Amino acid sequence: DWTTGNIVEEQLTAIREQVGTKRAICGLSGGVDSAVAAALVQKAIGSQLTCVYVDHGLMRKGETEQVEKDFVAATGVQLKVVDAQERFLTALAGVSDPEQKRKIIGREFIRVFEQAQAEIIAEAPGDQPVEFLVQGTLYPDVVESGGGSGTANIKSHHNVGGLPEDLEFQLIEPLRQLFKDEVRMVGQELGLPDEIVQRQPFPGPGLGIRIVGDVTKERLDLLREADAIAREELTAAGLDREIWQCPVVLLADVRSVGVQGDGRTYGHPIVLRPVSSEDAMTADWTRMPYDVLAKISTRITNEVADVNRVVLDVTSKPPGTIEWE
Ligand code: XMP
Repeated sequence: DWTTGNIVEEQLTAIREQVGTKRAICGLSGGVDSAVAAALVQKAIGSQLTCVYVDHGLMRKGETEQVEKDFVAATGVQLKVVDAQERFLTALAGVSDPEQKRKIIGREFIRVFEQAQAEIIAEAPGDQPVEFLVQGTLYPDVVESGGGSGTANIKSHHNVGGLPEDLEFQLIEPLRQLFKDEVRMVGQELGLPDEIVQRQPFPGPGLGIRIVGDVTKERLDLLREADAIAREELTAAGLDREIWQCPVVLLADVRSVGVQGDGRTYGHPIVLRPVSSEDAMTADWTRMPYDVLAKISTRITNEVADVNRVVLDVTSKPPGTIEWE
């Protein structure tokens, strides 16, 4: 019979059987899924697991610090932080096609994990091999990447369709049959704090798939500022639970004319995409209060250089997906 406790017990047994006395690494993204997957595997195999946090420069403001502090405090996990910003920016330079971005990000993630694997082995060479890679893949990721029966590939999720073919790891994917709300229940059962378990979803490829156009350091910095403002105001308005997630998207290839002070501007639009959903398979745009939208719009256009327009996405899923890429 189906209870969260049973799921946890079942997974702990399965993970212990799969890994035996070998070692595993787990990529942490700062999101709910990878955090819960890591906590589960940590509970199953303890110090045989090392978590790897890849700072790819596509993170939101404050995210790296949150993983370093909150997650380690909650789980006591061994954490390795890899600064890979240059690597990702170089690999993504000049690329604007969404699928290509996703594939590149997936590939670079794995390359960094392989490097981390070599380092972990070098640090404790006599130990068991590091053979396993833990991923927080959920059921909807599998379906939408074309892994479910008869479904077309909508997007290559960085942790499913985005993996390179010459993958040297065996995968552990303990959440593969679960939906987001179930993952949150598992996280709670494992004793993770609300700041982690109740976080809104954020995609592994990060802000890289929220810039329509190619990805540069300047564009990322700009989007990070706009995103931080939107999140701050949504939280201040008490809307975090009502809104499933609110991607903030930079239309880097679009410019429009505006006026600010007594001068003409020619800047980029920022899109707000607040959605309500049960499981991200379908979603509706959130009818959120106009005064909150007004506040976000005023702050973004005042505080973020080169952005002179804020627009609201009023499309449900389908036909739109939640992310723009
Ligand atoms: P879409 O845009 O497909 O998004 O409607 C559905 C949900 O999945 C998240 N998403 C991702 N999560 N890796 C992830 O971990 C990815 O590559 C990825 N792409 C989309 C998205 O934020 C939404 O919650």
